[in-house]
Amino acid sequence: MTDYTPTKDDKFSFGLWTVGWQGVDVFGGPVRPALDPVESVHRLAELGAAAITFHDDDLVPDDATREATLERFRKALAETGLGVEMATTNLFGAPVFKDGGLTANDRTVRRYAIAKVLRNIDLAAELGAKTYVLWGGREGAESGGTKDVLAALDRYKEGLDILCSYVRDKGYDIRFALEPKPNEPRGDILLPTIGHALAFINELEEPDRVGLNPEVGHEEMAGLNFAQGISQALWHGKLFHIDLNGQHGPRFDQDLRFGAGNLRGAFWTVDAMLGAGSGRAYDGYVHFDYKPPRTEDIEGVWETARACMRNYLILKEKAQAFRADPEVAEALEAARVAELAVPTLGAGESLDDLRAESFDPEALGARGLQFERLDQLAMEHLLGVR
Ligand code: GCO
Ligand code: MN
Ligand code: MN
Repeated sequence: MTDYTPTKDDKFSFGLWTVGWQGVDVFGGPVRPALDPVESVHRLAELGAAAITFHDDDLVPDDATREATLERFRKALAETGLGVEMATTNLFGAPVFKDGGLTANDRTVRRYAIAKVLRNIDLAAELGAKTYVLWGGREGAESGGTKDVLAALDRYKEGLDILCSYVRDKGYDIRFALEPKPNEPRGDILLPTIGHALAFINELEEPDRVGLNPEVGHEEMAGLNFAQGISQALWHGKLFHIDLNGQHGPRFDQDLRFGAGNLRGAFWTVDAMLGAGSGRAYDGYVHFDYKPPRTEDIEGVWETARACMRNYLILKEKAQAFRADPEVAEALEAARVAELAVPTLGAGESLDDLRAESFDPEALGARGLQFERLDQLAMEHLLGVR
């Protein structure tokens, strides 16, 4: 792995909308020409990706040319061996979705949104995608009085329940993954964090069919720790998919290439995905959801795609080296990290036994925990001096 060239076994995947982003933002129009999805498939395959993902509108922007577009796309997949691992619906771009899709106040908009999702689920199933993402970018509000949040959650649940029963009835091998985000494009978005989404899933009719697609930048926009967030999702058995990218703290959604922004966060994210500390690894696709900056031309776009995968592989090597380092093993021991896996009550022990024990809280409190030594070792692995 010394040259960090990815292979299909690394299970890297990219959204068509990532490399295909033309740089349109709130302050300016496109800086790059439209990218043909067929071209993206070929270039990403050459770079070593295993799969692509898409929104319905990324792949089929126009109904009139739907069949011809899909035929060219299927051909490109067959030529390159690239798979489609996930698909999703654009319920945010068109004016009709300005107040959301599944939770729009207007019932007709909600009905149209469900029809749009169902149509693309059929295509996702046909192309072999096993994960269907729901990112509720427009599901939210700018002002308190305009959205009855409890009713919106009822409708969100109704929408998810409908989609789950559709997939079950059709016999599709597809699970849904909710993607939390705190804000942008709405002032405040429903299901803003991993924790909100996990709690919501419990209220659904078929909670087993629904998990999460957390994104690095979205949790960090809320000031949260991504590695801890995905670790909790893993603990609940809900880390169905992941969106890797980079972010510099709480501000607008930067969607930087993976590794840019919070590099230490990226190190612990990869460590958590590998399950090195917990023994519970993420085994899904390693999906990048980022936006190549407007400064880049198309060659710069392919550079950023290459860099996402390269940074993941470099960080994987660093995390593995950290975990294999004998001095780290000693530091982990000194920091009593493994002791946390020992249940607090012994087998057959009663609370009376526990209360009868004589504790010395002052001595316990006076002890240094040696956590900084362990963290410095991680830092030195990350900085490349170990
Ligand atoms: C964002 C989001 C989107 C979604 C994607 C899937 O950057 O705000 O991550 O990119 O992931 O649209 O629906
Ligand atoms: Mn994002
Ligand atoms: Mn995303």
